[in-house]
Amino acid sequence: MTAKPKVWVSRPLFPDVLARLAEYFDVDAEAVEHRHSAERLKRKLAGVDGAVVGLADRIDAAVLEGNTRLKVVANLGVGYNNLDLEALTRAGIVASNTPDVLNESVADYAWALMLAAARRVSAAERWLRAGQWPGSNMRFDDWLGLPVHGRTLGILGMGRIGQGIARRAAGFDMRVLYHNRSRLPEMVERECQATLVSKDELLRQVDYLVLVLPFTPENRHAIGAPELARMKPSAVLVNIARGGIVDDAALAVALREGKLAAAGLDVFEGEPAVHAELLALDNAVLSPHIASASEETRRAMANLAADNVIAALGFGEGAGKPPT
Ligand code: DGY
Repeated sequence: MTAKPKVWVSRPLFPDVLARLAEYFDVDAEAVEHRHSAERLKRKLAGVDGAVVGLADRIDAAVLEGNTRLKVVANLGVGYNNLDLEALTRAGIVASNTPDVLNESVADYAWALMLAAARRVSAAERWLRAGQWPGSNMRFDDWLGLPVHGRTLGILGMGRIGQGIARRAAGFDMRVLYHNRSRLPEMVERECQATLVSKDELLRQVDYLVLVLPFTPENRHAIGAPELARMKPSAVLVNIARGGIVDDAALAVALREGKLAAAGLDVFEGEPAVHAELLALDNAVLSPHIASASEETRRAMANLAADNVIAALGFGEGAGKPPT
């Protein structure tokens, strides 16, 4: 009997997904969350045929150097800025991600942050938990937030997730503007009731701006001090895409100086570190990169990553088909 191929899973995963992988492979799965150093990644990847990795695992030329065994790297995420695709391709290693299965959960979460930032949910909860709610003596004009219904929503990056966010806006009677590299087909625009505008118009006109761009070198600081200065002081910024798309230092200044009303942020430059000034601001709602984290979606992502490894190593129904 020939030995099973080896697969390394860089972070804890659902036991049933690991069991599926174990049907085909000799699986080495991390039992606890690690921040793997480049040396550890290199060592782990050198001894396996396939790997399931997370967004914190940076797979680059240095990590792959001298690796002649690895055939597939399956990323647990739709974004893959942690993978050096050129280096992987050069080494003949298949790379996959988990598109589509997370669209609706991430779109839901964009709305969670938008509403929470508009209505100051996190700060109000901190106040309540600190025992500061005086009950009926509470001032009638305390904790006033911003209306969402009937306002203008802007979406920067109008892929499937952006479209999902736009579709939900109908329930809030919002006007939807978007900016994207290319115009959406008319039918999709109609379905989303969204109008294409320039980035400048988007910044100037919207009350809520949601960022859904992939992180590429061109998109680094797509929202920095000059862009923030063009937005309404009453506007709310939501980032569920990637840290680094926003200049967090410039955002903290705008929020502190009242040049922007509020922000809802799920991603940060230099994650898991969060800019100290953002941490200190009550008008920023902050969460630890959990936009896709619904039970159903994280399971679907894990299963898709497993399917991709199984297929790329020549097993299962997907054998021989290109991975996602
Ligand atoms: C992704 O898929 O890229 C998300 O950021 C991870 O949840």
